[in-house]
Amino acid sequence: MRIKEHPILEFPWMKEGEKPKLVSFIFEGRTMHGYDGEPISAALHDNGVKVLRYSIRFKRPRGFFCAIGRCSSCLMNVDGIPNIRTCITPLREGMNIQKQVGRGKIFNRGK
Ligand code: FES
Repeated sequence: MRIKEHPILEFPWMKEGEKPKLVSFIFEGRTMHGYDGEPISAALHDNGVKVLRYSIRFKRPRGFFCAIGRCSSCLMNVDGIPNIRTCITPLREGMNIQKQVGRGKIFNRGK
């Protein structure tokens, strides 16, 4: 599930004639792969991850929404830093990404 064309957004990592560089990253302890420079949330979607954070008040799941950095639906912890808009933050090799709960607590399953 990868977005290849969009009426507004450009995808510089998918230039015609160039092969995008595959990189690996860690999502909640699991190794995943995506293209160098693509938005983190796009790479997560391609790996089957639809929930990116949980809302502040009711802890409801939130996912990819505006995809242009205008809402807060995609805020995640990236390399230990909370509140990163993953729809506009480029993916890099070795990033450590976690779901965010509320204002920035790191998501821990069952702990
Ligand atoms: S999806 Fe809206 S800011 Fe990222």
